[in-house]
Amino acid sequence: MTRRGMAEDSPRRRGGATKSDLKPRPRVSVVDRPSRCPQVTRAIIAALLLSLLIAPQPTAAAVKSQTRRAANARGKTDWWKHAVFYEIYPRSFKDSDGDGVGDLNGITSKLDYLASLGVDAVWITPFYPSPQVDFGYDVSDYEAVDPQFGTLADFDRLVREAHRRRIKIIIDFVLNHTSDQHPFFKESRSSKTNPKRDWYIWRDPRADGPRPNNWSSSFGPVAWTLDDKTGQYFYHYFYPQQPELNWRNPEVERRMFETVRFWLRRGADGFRLDAVNYLFEDPQLRDNPVLPELRPGTTTGEHLQEKKYNRDLPEVQDVMVRLRAYNDRVNPESVLIGEAYVPKWEELMRYYGPADNGVHLPFNFFLIMEPARSKLDASVFRSVIEASEKALRGRWTTYVLSNHDNPRHFDRYGDGRNNDLIAKLTATMLLTLRGSPFLYYGEEIGMTTTEPKTIDEVRDPVGRRYWPANKGRDGERTPMQWDSSAHSGFTTGKPWLPVPPSARERNVAAAERDPNSILNFYKQLTALRRRSPALLDGGYATVESDPRVFAYVRAVIGQTVIVVLNMSGERRTFRLPSPVRTGPFVYDVALSNIPTPRPRPPVSGELSLAPFEAVILEGSTR
Ligand code: GLC
Ligand code: MG
Repeated sequence: MTRRGMAEDSPRRRGGATKSDLKPRPRVSVVDRPSRCPQVTRAIIAALLLSLLIAPQPTAAAVKSQTRRAANARGKTDWWKHAVFYEIYPRSFKDSDGDGVGDLNGITSKLDYLASLGVDAVWITPFYPSPQVDFGYDVSDYEAVDPQFGTLADFDRLVREAHRRRIKIIIDFVLNHTSDQHPFFKESRSSKTNPKRDWYIWRDPRADGPRPNNWSSSFGPVAWTLDDKTGQYFYHYFYPQQPELNWRNPEVERRMFETVRFWLRRGADGFRLDAVNYLFEDPQLRDNPVLPELRPGTTTGEHLQEKKYNRDLPEVQDVMVRLRAYNDRVNPESVLIGEAYVPKWEELMRYYGPADNGVHLPFNFFLIMEPARSKLDASVFRSVIEASEKALRGRWTTYVLSNHDNPRHFDRYGDGRNNDLIAKLTATMLLTLRGSPFLYYGEEIGMTTTEPKTIDEVRDPVGRRYWPANKGRDGERTPMQWDSSAHSGFTTGKPWLPVPPSARERNVAAAERDPNSILNFYKQLTALRRRSPALLDGGYATVESDPRVFAYVRAVIGQTVIVVLNMSGERRTFRLPSPVRTGPFVYDVALSNIPTPRPRPPVSGELSLAPFEAVILEGSTR
């Protein structure tokens, strides 16, 4: 997990040669390989746009058949490239039985809502039996459902009902650590000679000091806990209740992989792999280099050291390749999504595997991690996206602005006065970049980060430990706001976290009634995306513009889309790229976050932008 602008350590090893050239290129992409020099990029785009003008434009039927052909060529396994994902924190989504904690039946009851929003796949964070120290990320049984979330039969019904609505179900796989209450760990700690002793990382105290080394924990302060019974320490990068599995033991790998088969056979459509960059530790347990001081804006002990010997060891990638092979044998359509907060693109690229045989979608957290992430700054977005495109060399990525470990982007980017408009602007970006968007429950109604007011209210242990500098992650995990009734329609009981006061006005029922709500704007975006070959498959290129405007083109043969985002509170003018101006090309305003009473006239030449206006232009010949 990461929080509050934690720029990470520097990379330790260089990435090997990528095999992007071996990968089948998307047939219809025209601008997806960024070149080294921006002038060259611009010249190529100009030439491509010009060639689109000169070339006879295909008819609507031809575009349709082309899109179908492209889809067939891509094969069925690539469904996730076109999918809009939606993250659900099940404790907080919908409670069906009044115990104040959301559950699987609650999710099932809201599938029609998710379908109406245009969601293609839902990722549900852990719902397995767990002491709930880290709210489910401490798993005590990998092949069951915690009674507070329901039963396996509820899971089966959820999958069935979701599939009926063409929604896929992605589940969380916590493979780096178990709960200390998992039978594996209980056995492991029972004696030094237990056959499962080596399933975890046990070490004697150091001769010259207490703990085996200086490693600190993400949740602070130290990553070793002494077990009195056997006099040895066990290693936990997260809470002491989350002992780390020893992935150097082949038995661990074999057993954990079986979990994949268990859930795929039950109908899951893929896995989000929790904290995979922490799977391996240096066998010699060398001390991590110590940093001179805590990074600005960070609090926990982990940020006092470079995680040289306990993060992102090369062995991680070997497991990812084997896991992918195992996954593909059981169900080649199942998608693997890796959670790894790494500081550099070259590190993240390794997760795709040496021959694109690693995880399908390593999470791209570069927008979330960006130190300037709290500012709506066109130049920051432009440079982060361009760096992503450059590193990816045509590979697919994800885009995400909020999740259960980070403050919600509604208030990160909001200026306090135009938050709704800005939320629609950031949604426009999220749903039109070249990659699969991940929405976080509630962002579609503009839910705010609502932090606990007193330490007694804090539920996330990390917030209790570091209060008030770090109030933990409760703020982004508050109950979903369904309507204006008591507890926002989330539960009939006492909600496990308080419902934010904003729920009275800001809720799904109210948003559904208001044609200009953020929710209805998200629906328009997902619908537009679904029917736009350029947004689904097109390449990406930045369009030169006013520095405070972030603009880019997504294009396939037959369709060009230009997305124009005015990230300033002032009026701005956007000039369409020159080949477009000289040709017969005109652009229709497909969508804007500023509604007009009558349809806007087609645009050619210049587009005048209101403060924080986001416009999607769709090009065609006339
Ligand atoms: C991941 C999860 C986070 C959890 C941690 C330990 O970062 O997203 O919520 O606390 O792993 O499992
Ligand atoms: Mg580990």
